[in-house]
Amino acid sequence: MSRMHMIKVVGALVLVLAYICSNDQVEGSEGLSYGFYDKVCPQLEGIVRSGVQSMSLTDPTTPAALLRLMFHDCQGCDASILVDSESNNYKSEIRSSRNMGIRKREAVNLLKSVVEVQCPQRVSCADILILAAREAVFSSGGPRIDVPLGRRDSSNPTNSALADSSLPPSNVGVDDMLRLFEQKGLSLEESVAIIGAHTLGVTHCFNIESRLYDDPKSEHGRAFEMYLKLRCPQGSLTSNISVVLNEPTTLTFDNHYFINTINGRGVLTIDAEIPFDPRTVPFVQRFAADQDAFFQAFSSAFVKLSTSGVLTGSQGIIRRSCNALN
Ligand code: HEM
Ligand SMILES: *[C@@H]1O[C@H](CO)[C@@H](O)[C@H](O)[C@H]1NC(C)=O
Repeated sequence: MSRMHMIKVVGALVLVLAYICSNDQVEGSEGLSYGFYDKVCPQLEGIVRSGVQSMSLTDPTTPAALLRLMFHDCQGCDASILVDSESNNYKSEIRSSRNMGIRKREAVNLLKSVVEVQCPQRVSCADILILAAREAVFSSGGPRIDVPLGRRDSSNPTNSALADSSLPPSNVGVDDMLRLFEQKGLSLEESVAIIGAHTLGVTHCFNIESRLYDDPKSEHGRAFEMYLKLRCPQGSLTSNISVVLNEPTTLTFDNHYFINTINGRGVLTIDAEIPFDPRTVPFVQRFAADQDAFFQAFSSAFVKLSTSGVLTGSQGIIRRSCNALN
């Protein structure tokens, strides 16, 4: 082969590779890609899938906890919610009252330690958390969501003030909810769809006390409010441990959440208000009637929420264990 010919062949190869790589890049989230770990840790998705499945067998409420964990970590999706480190004058993120009821952080630690054995120092806790959340959705009957990977873990301790200011209070209304998700690039339709995550899980009485007793304003769903008041009596000493189901089919990811809220059975303020706000009601009705439409909008919302403002490339670190900054 002549030297010139060789240069041409190499040049063509470089172009083809550049094309393939650029196609794999995810728009609007520099540094993330589908198949990020295909070469360095092909076992990753299988490990997380079977891990989440077996943890769900021992505790069927695991998927709900993992999905909420994703939302609460995705003020950057940098696994900062998993960090335990505390000192006298420092309160870690998890201590924020906005994170009340957050569970299963240790499940992500466990998945990480299994991944570490097979692919040491390659995979971020942040990505494992996102993969666990999408398995949570799928294993409960929800859509299979393709998620771009390549997030890095935070290296700075984050304190509870961040969560206090960036996560919504439990009695947030439609205006603030829409503002919050718009900042993360979600459309109106996607913002309604992502709240459909409340098809899974539970709510502690503590988190609906203000809705039930401080500002009971909704005329709708009176009967359901009476039921909630019976389950969560005012001034109860156990409001931090008693729970109500977010929705009767609480272990299944389906569109019953939307059917229930339309019928006046929303648990949180936001659940109760979306069927009555003129901006959100068309989507609530559509998702209540068409589960595929819900799944599709939920999937794109999940990807946007989990790619907004993440650390990539040489930013941040890959932690050795998720609960410590090492
Ligand atoms: C305006 C937005 C939101 C508000 C105000 C909100 C608020 C809450 C509150 C107060 C709880 C009860 C926690 C407890 O008492 O243990 C809860 C539960 C839950 N939330 Fe949300 N949430 C919002 C959006 C989301 C999003 C975007 C997701 C996921 C993508 C999500 C997933 C969940 C899940 C799965 C549960 C059940 C958790 C469990 O059973 O442990 N939420 N939410
Ligand atoms: C209930 O939980 C909230 C929020 O975490 C906390 O501020 C409050 O002190 C708790 N109350 C009791 C009785 O433990």
